[in-house]
Amino acid sequence: MISINRIPKIIQGGMGAGISNWKLAKTVSMKGGLGIVAGTALDQILVRRLQNGDTDGHMRRALEAFPAPASARRVLEKWFQPHGNPNRRYRILSKPVCTMNDARVETMIVAAFVEMFLAKEGHDNPVGFNCLEKMQLPLIPSIFGAMLAGVDCLTIGAGFPVYIPKVLDNLLSMNPSFIPLHVEGRNIPRHELEFDPHRYIPDKYRSSLLSKLQRPLFFPIISSPLAGKMMLRKNAHLVDGFIVENHRAGGHNAPPRTKTSDRPSYGKKDDIDMGAIAALGKPFWLAGGYASPEKMREALRQGASGVQIGSLFAYSAQSGLDATQKKECLDLFVKNKIVVKTDFAASPTGYPFKTILKSGTATDPHASLTQERKCDLGYLRTISCDDEGKLVYNCPATNADSNALCVCNGLMSAAGLPQMRTETREPPLLTCGEDYAAIAELASVAGEYTAEDALNFIRGTLHKRLSA
Ligand SMILES: Cc1cc2nc3c(=O)[nH]c(=O)nc-3n(C[C@H](O)[C@H](O)[C@H](O)COP(=O)(O)O)c2cc1C
Repeated sequence: MISINRIPKIIQGGMGAGISNWKLAKTVSMKGGLGIVAGTALDQILVRRLQNGDTDGHMRRALEAFPAPASARRVLEKWFQPHGNPNRRYRILSKPVCTMNDARVETMIVAAFVEMFLAKEGHDNPVGFNCLEKMQLPLIPSIFGAMLAGVDCLTIGAGFPVYIPKVLDNLLSMNPSFIPLHVEGRNIPRHELEFDPHRYIPDKYRSSLLSKLQRPLFFPIISSPLAGKMMLRKNAHLVDGFIVENHRAGGHNAPPRTKTSDRPSYGKKDDIDMGAIAALGKPFWLAGGYASPEKMREALRQGASGVQIGSLFAYSAQSGLDATQKKECLDLFVKNKIVVKTDFAASPTGYPFKTILKSGTATDPHASLTQERKCDLGYLRTISCDDEGKLVYNCPATNADSNALCVCNGLMSAAGLPQMRTETREPPLLTCGEDYAAIAELASVAGEYTAEDALNFIRGTLHKRLSA
């Protein structure tokens, strides 16, 4: 396990799906920040890149390095299209369910390995991996895949991942893990998900892998000291630090603490008590509007080890955000015409989600009305139990009376891998934090900026360099 002292002051937040891809995470880590690979839907991303022909060969190079070659070969044979996919109609993986066959789980492991392998390739600096606890079915296979590639640090948000330290122990020794499955409803019997690494790593490779696997540092993402206390109650010595994210951050946010009968909104109760966070006694990094040297100093004064930045990196040249959307948004940022809204209904997860209101994207009623309400990727489905005790999967976005958006397809589209439908293509769903002043400032110089510019801006060294 790497020493916590090697985690830098600036962490680039995990941004799914495919926004903090291996290229962004690698660049940030090589330039002295902590790059984090987003773990969300990596299996779907890998199979789409392979269908597109893997023109630069990175996917195939990483697949060749997978420690159980037959698994990588199966994925390649099934999904690689050497001549690409000119009409962008993607074959898709089956939706995650509790009873997935080994081949489906194998794709999750292989895909997480590929992304982490590439992010770590060619340097020795730490790289992290990010998951959402709420996306339960791919969670453990993805963490295992990232561990096979030597991930140094794990950040997990959107839920209470209290069972993760025990899972990490099991994965390290290649023993089975059982995690509690969230099943909605009352008086539901306890359901568990089993993950047994032996099913995916043949005996002949096991001993050499056992000697190489390292335990990643574990940083739960929290939005209140209470959540931190809950995490520490069971695992005090196995939690290495916290990412403390406020509701100004891009992506999903913690729900407001004040329950109102009408319109939900954030208030005083959602301010995070930094004294209580420091009193948890663990290193912490602050997230949500910290992209400036002044905010970095403020964070350090409050006892933080540094900051986690998302939005500024999401719109940098190395991110996986669709190039056209990135360019159009950067133009809007510079002209101060961007509109960011906290949408309390958009995400099927039930968590508030920061959306950018922009025509032609999923928030444009025109663009999304043309889309069929059909769940074909299924990462965010809730699980409930019917009268006969059978598990039932549902995505709220498929219900006609729901305001939830098709987040899975919207995010794949935002990552430049949109599914073509009969007449249109899935519109992208864009997100950004409330504070985007740094994006506007950096983009105003040359219309775009790099992840290294973003790091130097936060360090307070960029403008010195530009004016030198
Ligand atoms: C495009 C985008 C996608 C994000 N996706 C995730 C995610 O998948 N998992 C996660 O834990 N946080 C996610 N976040 C939050 C970031 O990791 C980070 O904590 C946050 O952006 C920090 O606030 P800032 O945007 O004000 O810098 C996302 C943020 C953005 C901007």
